[in-house]
Amino acid sequence: MRIILSGLVLAAMTLVAPIANADDPIVIKFSHVVAENTPKGQAANKFKDLVAERLGGKVVVEVYPNAQLYGDNKVIEAMLLGDVQIAAPALSKFQKYTPELQIYDLPFLFDNIEAVDRFQQGPAGQKMLTSMEDKGILGLGYLHNGMKQLSASKPIRVPADVDGLKFRIMTSDVLAEQFEAVDALPVKKPFSEVFTLLQTKAIDGQENTWSNIYSKKFFEVQPYITHTDHGLLDYLVITSSEFWNSLPDDVRPEVKKALDEAVAFGNKVALDKAESDKKLIADSGRTEIIELTPEERKKWVEAMKPVWKKFEDDIGKENIDAATASNASS
Ligand code: LMR
Repeated sequence: MRIILSGLVLAAMTLVAPIANADDPIVIKFSHVVAENTPKGQAANKFKDLVAERLGGKVVVEVYPNAQLYGDNKVIEAMLLGDVQIAAPALSKFQKYTPELQIYDLPFLFDNIEAVDRFQQGPAGQKMLTSMEDKGILGLGYLHNGMKQLSASKPIRVPADVDGLKFRIMTSDVLAEQFEAVDALPVKKPFSEVFTLLQTKAIDGQENTWSNIYSKKFFEVQPYITHTDHGLLDYLVITSSEFWNSLPDDVRPEVKKALDEAVAFGNKVALDKAESDKKLIADSGRTEIIELTPEERKKWVEAMKPVWKKFEDDIGKENIDAATASNASS
């Protein structure tokens, strides 16, 4: 009887579950939250094209932009469950998994993207790629978006202008402290909700890069954007150690090579878009871009920099020192 039953179960399973065939391609789902015409969107598409060109038949990359599949932090959980194989969340979204990456949220830490590059490619930045290995998360590389700006419903020039205003932030305690340092009210919300929150005036402002402000049309519902460059929005391209180790030895280096090239391409897009999307926003006439005087900018630095000290133990003083040293040759 038992033999007959298990035979029936087996027969039923073959009817419903597709059996993985050794010749089936390996599917890499790459899920992200931004639009396709952004540095991350373009890097993901480039990766898909390079893999199709070089590993066609063996590996297939499927890209899911605009939080179609998973939003924000959910993607990391989905990756650990094997529902997604590659993602590139903003560095601000890893607080739950490692304290060290919080360094990238410290306000006014890096002078420019060249300094960011020097830090990320140096020993401290490279070591952080494996800082979540014990959680099964492997960093494959950094991808740039760029420096963040402040957008708001009223003109912002000095810290006193944001007193009592609500700003959407990513799920980062450093970013919360940054806004509290200037008496604003930080509100942690997913990226996919930002446009509606701004449009309905549930919040007064947000911080983001020129390419995110442009591609998600935040500038259409925010009459003022202040060019502050006060922080960095970069990404960590991640995979699960389990998936990465399961790749055949002749496939893994090829996938990594395609990814490295896609990231280099995305980094170039990031540099271009920091200029061109700012210009598109300015030309739209929908919003006013405010440029700060050096004295005004200094006030923001003075107000926000004390945040560093609060996170020094979590992040490691030696990491902060390495980051500030990367500004030296700017
Ligand atoms: C945000 O939530 O503002 C960003 O992380 C979105 C992104 O991925 O660029």
